[in-house]
Amino acid sequence: MHLLLLVSTICLLFNCAVSGIPKPEEKRVLDRDVLNHAQHFQNDEHNKQYDHEAFLGEEAKTFDQLEPKESRRRLGIIVDKIDADKDDFVNQAELKAWIQYTQRRYIEDDVGRQWKQHNPNNTDQISWDVYRKNVYGFLDDMDPKDLEQGDEHFSYKSMLSRDRRRWSVADRDGDDRLNKTEFTEFLHPEESLYMRDIVVQETIEDIDKDNDGKVSVEEYIGEMYQAPEENEEEPEWIKQERETFANFRDKNKDGFMNQEEVRDWIIPADFDHAEAEARHLIYEADSDADEKLTKDEIIEKYDLFVGSQATDFGEALTRHDEF
Ligand SMILES: *[C@@H]1O[C@H](CO)[C@@H](O)[C@H](O)[C@H]1NC(C)=O
Ligand SMILES: *[C@@H]1O[C@H](CO)[C@@H](O)[C@H](O)[C@H]1NC(C)=O
Repeated sequence: MHLLLLVSTICLLFNCAVSGIPKPEEKRVLDRDVLNHAQHFQNDEHNKQYDHEAFLGEEAKTFDQLEPKESRRRLGIIVDKIDADKDDFVNQAELKAWIQYTQRRYIEDDVGRQWKQHNPNNTDQISWDVYRKNVYGFLDDMDPKDLEQGDEHFSYKSMLSRDRRRWSVADRDGDDRLNKTEFTEFLHPEESLYMRDIVVQETIEDIDKDNDGKVSVEEYIGEMYQAPEENEEEPEWIKQERETFANFRDKNKDGFMNQEEVRDWIIPADFDHAEAEARHLIYEADSDADEKLTKDEIIEKYDLFVGSQATDFGEALTRHDEF
């Protein structure tokens, strides 16, 4: 769900819009998605966007642009949709079902869009060659020395080999072509049990800055927090994270997270993200503690659910004009 946000951020970094280079990193950021899942409840103050995207999917971006009044109005319409049994309360089951629906819709839209883009004739399968040409074809025309380590295009080369590897895993029948089911697993491996090992492997590769194949406590912390200036003290929640790493993440106490320990961290057994998110949202907004939400309770906390412009720009400007 963080895809859009991250794609635009990464596009800024890689300058894709300006240079007209295609955007292979659209899928790359999925590992981030997995990490965001894992980290959301560690420090949710820093993750408001997570709540908004879990609740709204792609529409989170639209709401961010709205004035508070309009944001509240549209939220009210959504609340009526979530309240499936029309008893004027949103309970945890209804909220969970909504979050799952949002997630499903987001994935279907994304896969549908990319399927159409890479398979305009709408055949049953996409071959790796066609996909590679569409997404990474521009690499063929480049001077090999521009693809060396350190160059800005080097990252595309490593994305290509990662995609190649992920494609082969998703390609269950080994014909190097993906049908729509397999293509969905390729684009959204975090949704598939079958793809679990490759998700764990890619996550480790992202975090493992010294390439020793395992995650140290510094690498783990580095994913959530930029090292402070000298003399600056680490915030309390980072100290707690260090303890969490030592006491829970690093189960065999060798100072690192290995493959298995990373898997338990990012894909914990028996953990349902939609359910956890529903519980979290209810807990945060339930002012009378009856474990269900009225429309008023939700709208009261609209910034938790949908967000909007922090200040009411339109209104501020109008008032200013009156002076
Ligand atoms: C789609 O069909 C057209 C016409 O049959 C063909 O020329 C083209 O190569 C096909 N495109 C792909 C990607 O297979
Ligand atoms: C794609 O192929 C897999 C087997 O690799 C099969 O289980 C699945 O039903 C197929 N999906 C579609 C949409 O044909």
